[in-house]
Formats: sequence, C-alpha cells, structure tokens
Amino acid sequence: MLIDGSLVPEGRGGEIASIDPATGQVITTIPEADHLQVDEAVRAAATAMLGRWGSARAEERARVLFDIADRLDADAHSFALLDTLDNGKPLTTATEDIAAAIETFRYMAGWATKINGRTMSMGENGAFHAYTLRQPSGVVGQIIPWNFPIVSIAWKLAPALAAGCAVVLKPAELTSLSALRFAALVAGLDIPPGVINIVTGTGPGVGAALVEHPLVDRVSFTGSGVTGRWVAQTAAATMKRVTLELGGKSPVVVFPDADLDHAIESAANAIFFNQGEVCTAGSRLLVHRDVFDAVIDGVAERAKRLSVGDGFDPETEVGPLISEAHLGRVSHAVEAAIRDGAELLCGGPVKRDSGFFYGPTVLVENRRDAKVSREEIFGPVLVAQSFDGDDLQAVIDDVNDTLYGLGASIFTRDITRAHRFAIGAKSGTVWVNTHLDHGQDVPFGGYKQSGYGRELGEEAVLSYTELKSVKVRL
Ligand code: NAI
Ligand code: MG
Repeated sequence: MLIDGSLVPEGRGGEIASIDPATGQVITTIPEADHLQVDEAVRAAATAMLGRWGSARAEERARVLFDIADRLDADAHSFALLDTLDNGKPLTTATEDIAAAIETFRYMAGWATKINGRTMSMGENGAFHAYTLRQPSGVVGQIIPWNFPIVSIAWKLAPALAAGCAVVLKPAELTSLSALRFAALVAGLDIPPGVINIVTGTGPGVGAALVEHPLVDRVSFTGSGVTGRWVAQTAAATMKRVTLELGGKSPVVVFPDADLDHAIESAANAIFFNQGEVCTAGSRLLVHRDVFDAVIDGVAERAKRLSVGDGFDPETEVGPLISEAHLGRVSHAVEAAIRDGAELLCGGPVKRDSGFFYGPTVLVENRRDAKVSREEIFGPVLVAQSFDGDDLQAVIDDVNDTLYGLGASIFTRDITRAHRFAIGAKSGTVWVNTHLDHGQDVPFGGYKQSGYGRELGEEAVLSYTELKSVKVRL
C-alpha cells in the first residue's frame, strides 16, 4: 500500500487472497489495512493539504498528473496483464482500459491550470467588488469497484489531484493488484508524501473506515446501490460531500427505421462487452414489434458466436465473471427469470473444469414488472421486450419506468425522434445510434437511484472544489 509517501507491505488487518477468475486459483495475497492504517493515510492526506501540496502552483499539479500518465504509459502492458489476471477481462479490453486511463490523467492535467472563479457586481454604483474562488475540497476518500480497475483509479484520482485535493483511495478487494502496482509507481515520482494514499482491504473494514473518518471532506464512491445508500447515510453524519456512481438497467431502444445491422451489433456489444459487468450495460432491449424478431435473432446469433474463455486467449471476447459468488448471483437471476416465465433464446452456464464462466444470454420477457425486467444483474444477460406503434412518449415512459437512470440509447434515423428521446429520457447519458462510448470531456453520471454527481469533464474537476464567495465593500 502507499501511506504518507511510503510503501507499506503489510496490512495490520491481515491479508486477503486475490483470485484469478479464469481458474479460481489464488494469485497472491493483498494487505487488509486496519483502522489505524486508514487513519494514518487520512492524516497524511490532511497534512499534505497544509503543506507544499496545499499551496502548490497549478502548473505543479499538472506536472504531477503528466508524470503519472508518462509512467503508466511506460508500464502500460503490465497494467493490462494484471487487470486481465485479476479481473478476467479479455486482454484487448484491459489494453484499452489502460490507454483510456492514461488519457484521463493527461486530460485532467490540462484542467489543473484552468480552474477559475468569476467576478460579479453587488449593490449600487459599484459599491462592491465580488468574486468567487474555487478551492480544493480537501481530503478525499475514494472507493472503487472491480469491473474497470485502472480506469476507475484514473476517473477518481485525476480530477481530484487536478483540483488540488489529497486522496486516500481504496480499490475493490477483488481487483487490487493494479492499484498496488500503481502505488509502487507513484511512490517513485516527485509527489509530496500524503497526496496520494492507496489502502487495500474489504468494504466493511477499510471502506467504511474511510467513509466514517471525520477528517475526510468528500467521498466519491462507485459500486452497488446498497453500499451507495449506506455511504450517503454515513457521510451525512459529518456532512461530507458525496459523489455516487451506482448501477443501472439501461435500455437500448430500436425503431424500425434504424440501420438494423448496426443496431444489432451495438445492442450485443452494449450487454456483452466486459462480460456485462458494466454499470451502463444495455441490459434491457426494447424493440419495435415490426422488427422484433429480426433484431433479437440477430443479437442471439451474435451472442452464440462470441468466444467465451480465458482473457489471455487472443480469441476470447467474453471472459469469466469476477467471482464464484457473482457467478452464483447471475445464474440464479437467470434461473429465476425462466421459472417466472421468461423465454431463453440462448446462453446460460458454460461447462468448464474451473473458472467462473457464464455464456452470453438473451431472454425474452415482455412483462415490465418482472424482476428480470427491473433489477440489475451485472452480467452478460439481456432481457428483450417489444413495443407497438409510433407513440414516442409511450416509449419514453417505458424507458423511464425504472428506479435507475444511468444510460439509455435509441437507434433510429429520425433526427427529431432522436432528439425528443434525448430530452425525455430520465438518464444521465443518452446515446443515439450507439451505446457505451465515453469521452474525457463529456460528463458521466446518473439520474435517480443511479447516483448523483458527475465524473469526467469539467464537472468532475469542479466537484472536487468548494465554491467561496468574496464580497469587498469599496
Ligand atoms: P459493492 O458496492 O459492495 O463494492 C464496491 C466497492 O465498495 C468495493 O471497493 C467494496 O470494497 C466497497 N464497499 C463495500 N461495502 C462497503 C462499505 N460498507 N463501506 C465502504 N465501502 C464499501 O459491490 P460488490 O459487492 O462488489 O458487487 C455487488 C453488486 O453491485 C454487483 O453484482 C453489481 O450489481 C453492483 N456493482 C455495480 C457497480 C457499478 O459500476 N455501478 C460496480 C460493482 C458492483
Ligand atoms: Mg481477482
């Protein structure tokens, strides 16, 4: 771990086995920090805010972010290998992940020198000079999930450092290896001690200690809704600022006028990319009745052709699920849906001697109130549904009939319909004729129970600042 500028090999809370999901074998163990180590990390961050980092020039913060990006670049392949080993994802995906993470550090380095307040007038006849200052939030606790380990590190750390905060970051206990390598890499850079701290361990242990710590000013959390609600409630005790990026049941809507081959390919990618372990996975496919059979048959055809296997095999398109427990959750969700009346078009469990594999699955379930239509599964499981007629508002109501609001996409050639859908969908991101793409400068986050606050873009940087108003009587 990295605490106060020093690499710490031992967790005083013990150790946790790190598992290769392709084999079920133990790779190594990772440290479990105890409460005192979390406290040391938080205090180191608080001290860093009072020292050289707290008054660093913006150019210095930018340099730190560029240095991190350069070091990641030089070591990119080993980060990709580690995430495939630890998470199971195909090496092609892990390679895209590290490239995207490096881009995030470079993009956010640019923001460090561009954080400004505004000037205003107050009172009559220029009686006042008023302006705002954007100051760093202070000590930030960051908790990330296991589906995009290195990308999540970049999305959390980079904007916080650009804004001038000091950070204590906890990776998911299921995928901490790339975070620990990141810690070792950062320890070799010219960054004041305490600015970046990486502590590993379980959620209820290390994660909870961070959320509860009185010296933490802001918490940024990505993960499940259950944990997110607990984080929000707990943070409220000391009025910590909170960003929550939670799950979804993101709909993909296909109209008959769409480029159907493209829609089919996109819909399959939207749910099967990264084993469906994606918060914005397009897990609910809503297709107009006129093209329903063609589209779902096309998606099922693609699902059957996807090669499921070890992430290191260059043929693999869908790797193992993250853990045995998660494989159990996904299997149970599909079995329950079928018992409940859903029709299975393809997929289900995959027979292997070892590893946590599950086949790309397509279900048809038209009942909107069925559990499988409403709840996030977080695996390669698509539920397809049809709609009738040309009433766009009815489709929008259907799309919005969910507790979530992270992503929604529409496939159509009708530009008016696309824009009206974008306005009507209660969703943090709306895609038109695509699904899943991100841009560094495009804010990302949820409506409703998908969370609040935004990552990426200027909004992410500003979220790590406090806004101060200064009013000068002239
Ligand atoms: P989780 O929300 O429990 O874990 C995410 C992170 O939060 C991990 O780093 C974990 O150690 C930490 N955590 C857990 N309990 C905590 C606590 N009390 N205080 C502070 N931190 C805590 O998610 P989990 O158990 O890994 O996955 C369960 C389900 O959550 C998945 O099946 C999926 O549906 C959903 N999920 C959604 C994600 C998303 O990106 N929206 C990411 C991961 C999971
Ligand atoms: Mg692992």
